[in-house]
Amino acid sequence: MLNDFQSIDARDRIIVALDCDGSTALSLADRLKGHATWVKVGMTLYYAEGPSIIAALKRRGFKVFLDLKFHDIPHQIYGATRSAVECGADMLTMHCAGGEAMMQAACKGAAAAQTTSSNDPILLGITVLTSMDQAALSSIGIDKSVSQQVTRLAGLAHTVGLSGVVASPQEAHALREQLGAHAYIVTPGVRPQGSALDDQSRIATPQQAFDAGASHLVIGRPITQAADPVASFESIVESLGNK
Ligand code: C5P
Repeated sequence: MLNDFQSIDARDRIIVALDCDGSTALSLADRLKGHATWVKVGMTLYYAEGPSIIAALKRRGFKVFLDLKFHDIPHQIYGATRSAVECGADMLTMHCAGGEAMMQAACKGAAAAQTTSSNDPILLGITVLTSMDQAALSSIGIDKSVSQQVTRLAGLAHTVGLSGVVASPQEAHALREQLGAHAYIVTPGVRPQGSALDDQSRIATPQQAFDAGASHLVIGRPITQAADPVASFESIVESLGNK
């Protein structure tokens, strides 16, 4: 299925995961400025540095994907989403397992923040963590298969009005069929041809992930731990023929 993102510059569809300490993150950001558009701040960096890391990255001109995977009662999620958007988060995540009311609260929190900030945030659902297999799912009382549960939770996120989901490249094709051309499908687990797997096992190349229907790719170590992060980023862009 064609999707709305295919004509967008690849530079704007690669999210560089800054899974490192604050000073390394900022020095990487300084090098990648003018090349990458998006960076990802995850729990490790955020809980070490707080909202100031978002502000510092925004000052450098980046869009920030704040990946804190919210999961709490609706009242808290309303406030957390509002605060995160007011801090400058352009994209953020929550567990779909928190339910419809929680996701609706996130949408309301984001809308409330828009009255004071110019951000139009992208809200993404996490379906089943890729670290969970069938046994792990059964152990928490879910009798569906992993793929049935992914479909179920993605459908719920879509109904509530989230912008899309985070998914493995292996799930992207089915999710693109399910959610349609407009949905954001953000995939980690991406490795350029010939690069180290690190601790990732089920990987796809950037081209394969886009072909499967991903809107954006999250790529960390192949860029951040390269001798020349800018050259690594640019070679990924080149490998995509800027699709
Ligand atoms: O360094 P690497 O490219 O493996 O980084 C991938 C990023 O995507 C990390 O920030 C990691 O937390 C995130 N991620 C992942 N697998 C998932 C979900 C998120 O690797 N299933």
